[in-house]
Amino acid sequence: MNLIFLGPPGAGKGTQAKRLQDRFGIVQISTGDMLRAEVTAGSKVGLQAKAVMEAGQLVSDEILIRMLGNRIERSDCLTGFILDGFPRTEPQAEALDALLAGRGLKLDAVIELKVDAPALVERIAGRFTCAKCGAGYHDSFNQPKVADTCDVCGGHAFIRRADDKRETVAARLAAYERQTAPILPHYAAAGLLHSVDGMAGMDEVTAEIMAVLDNVPVGVEA
Ligand code: AP5
Ligand code: MG
Repeated sequence: MNLIFLGPPGAGKGTQAKRLQDRFGIVQISTGDMLRAEVTAGSKVGLQAKAVMEAGQLVSDEILIRMLGNRIERSDCLTGFILDGFPRTEPQAEALDALLAGRGLKLDAVIELKVDAPALVERIAGRFTCAKCGAGYHDSFNQPKVADTCDVCGGHAFIRRADDKRETVAARLAAYERQTAPILPHYAAAGLLHSVDGMAGMDEVTAEIMAVLDNVPVGVEA
């Protein structure tokens, strides 16, 4: 099954993609995580992307299309993938169509997570993750069960994303409205777009996505 998760920053794309990855045995491809890994590694791409990401802007289509093209070649994509954060612009959506067609692959569904702007700001500004295993937490909604201790791996160090400052979130939301929301009609016209209420609790959102996928015909060749 090949899926795209679309939605503004903080909508829950990563949270839900990780849950489906475990359930279906398909791989989550987060271009944001890939870029952050490049920044940490100090690579050429990382150096180009760092300031752009910290300003809440989109990294260039050229870098992202090349990065996604290389990633999708890897063998763990053969059983299916969830694109989390790609495509984000019209050129990226067109490049993805060509990339998939070239490999005889098709998309099965595009899930749009809809969340109000004030809720997005709260979600992002309160988010932190375990530095060791990456488990996600939130200051108000999802604290570790034991203070300063990761529920999953017992780690005691936590990190916050450089672009999760309140002032940067506004720029990220604006970039979504200006550059990413315009690709929704592309997938609606193809009959692939399914909108889900991302304001509901995490388990309800998962259930709603599962209900959508239950009704999607999968595995049909392009
Ligand atoms: P990226 O890493 O993709 O960030 P984003 O799209 O801004 O989205 P987030 O990761 O912040 O949110 P999410 O939707 O994954 O929500 P999450 O599940 O974490 O991109 C970062 C940057 O990289 C971009 O700004 C850009 O610069 C660059 N980039 C990446 N891809 C690119 C591309 N294709 N082209 C160009 N540039 C690119 O949830 C958020 C919080 O809410 C968490 O704390 C979570 O616990 C909580 N939460 C989740 N669901 C719920 C719920 N239902 N109820 C309550 N809380 C919830
Ligand atoms: Mg994410």
